[in-house]
Amino acid sequence: MKYRNLGAAGVKVSNLCLGGMTFGEADESSFMHKVGSDEATAFAVLDRAVAAGINFIDTADVYGQDGLSERVLGTWLTNGGQRDKLVIATKFRFTMGEGANKSGGSRYRIIKCCEDSLRRLKTDRIDLYQIHAQDLAVAEDETLRALDDLVRAGKVVYTGCSNYAAYRLANSLWESKTRQLASFATLQAQYSLVARDIEREHVPLCRTAGLGILPWSPLASGFLSGKYEQGKPPAADTRLGQGDRYKRWDNERNWKIIAAVRAVASELSSTPSAVSLAWLLAKPQVTSVIFGARNLEQLDANLAAADLELTANHVDVLDKASAFPLGYPYDFIGANGVW
Ligand SMILES: NC(=O)c1ccc[n+]([C@@H]2O[C@H](COP(=O)([O-])OP(=O)(O)OC[C@H]3O[C@@H](n4cnc5c(N)ncnc54)[C@H](OP(=O)(O)O)[C@@H]3O)[C@@H](O)[C@H]2O)c1
Repeated sequence: MKYRNLGAAGVKVSNLCLGGMTFGEADESSFMHKVGSDEATAFAVLDRAVAAGINFIDTADVYGQDGLSERVLGTWLTNGGQRDKLVIATKFRFTMGEGANKSGGSRYRIIKCCEDSLRRLKTDRIDLYQIHAQDLAVAEDETLRALDDLVRAGKVVYTGCSNYAAYRLANSLWESKTRQLASFATLQAQYSLVARDIEREHVPLCRTAGLGILPWSPLASGFLSGKYEQGKPPAADTRLGQGDRYKRWDNERNWKIIAAVRAVASELSSTPSAVSLAWLLAKPQVTSVIFGARNLEQLDANLAAADLELTANHVDVLDKASAFPLGYPYDFIGANGVW
C-alpha cells in the first residue's frame, strides 16, 4: 500500500480508500436495499482492508437508513480499538429525518449533523467532514463558517466537498481564502474510465488549487469489474441488476472500454477491477480511490490495484479507449495547445 497527502492537507492516507456505502443491510427505504453486506461481512471487510494497509474509510450519514453505515462503522471502531490508526471521512447534506431542515448545508444543520455523526461513529472527531453536494440555497460562506467553527472546536480535523460544480468550488476556495476560513482539502467526485467528465474543469481546478481528488464509484458500481457481458441482462443480486441502473452503462462506448480493460488485465495477469482502479491511481491529481467491496472476494480483487503499476503505454491505451468529446471551449483551446 502506498500513502499520499490528503490533497491540500498534511495527513497521509492510503491510495485506496474503503467506501462504506455497502456497510449494513439497508431496508427498502434506502437506495442500498438488497445490495449491502450484513454487519459480520462488513466487519470482516474492514478487518482485512486495514490489515492490508488501508487507513482511510469513507462513509456518509445518508448511507443506509437512519445512519446505518455510520453505525456499523462506529460499532467496528469500538470493538477493534483501531480508531487512532485511521482517517475517518463522512458527509452531511442530504435528507435525514423530517421537517423543513431535513437537508441542506446551513449552519443549523451542519452543527446537528456533525453531532449525530459523531454519536453514530462513536468517536470524538471526524477526520474529513465533507459536504455531500453543493447547496445553492445557502450562502457558501455560511457553510464554510460553520465548518470552520467545527474545526476550531476540534470536532472536525479537515473539510472537503463532493459533487460541486467547478464554478461553485472555485468560489468556495476564494471565500475561504479571503475570509480566512478552513478551506476544502479534497473534492470527492464521480470519476472512472466510463465517467471522465471532471477532466474538463474540476481536474485543472484541483491541480491549480492543490486539492486532492477522491474518485467515487471508480468501478461504475461494478460495471468495470468485467463481470457483465454485452447482450446479457445483469444478475439480479448485483447493484446494477436493481431497477434500470444497468441501462446507464450498457452502451457501445463502454463495451469498447471493457474490451481494452480486459486486454490490459490479461497482459498484466491482473483483473479488470484492479486495472480500472490502477488507471485512476495513475492520474496525477487523484489522492485516494474510494472503492466499494460487498464481500471479501471483491475486496481482495480491488486491493490488488494498490501495487499494480500500469505502464505509460497501458495508460495511453485506456485513455484512448475511453476518450470522450470535450466540447467547446476545451477542444478549441486544446487544439491550440493552451489547455
Ligand atoms: N460522494 C458521493 O456522492 C458518492 C456517491 C457514491 C459513492 N460514494 C463513495 O464511494 C464509495 C464507492 O462507491 P461505489 O460502491 O459506487 O464504488 P464501486 O467500486 O464503483 O462499486 C462497488 C460495487 O461494485 C461491485 N464490485 C466491487 N468490486 C467488485 C469486484 N472486484 N468484482 C465484482 N464486483 C465488484 C459491488 O456491487 P455488487 O456486488 O452489488 O455488484 C460493489 O458494491 C462508496 O462506498 C462511498 O463511500 C460517494
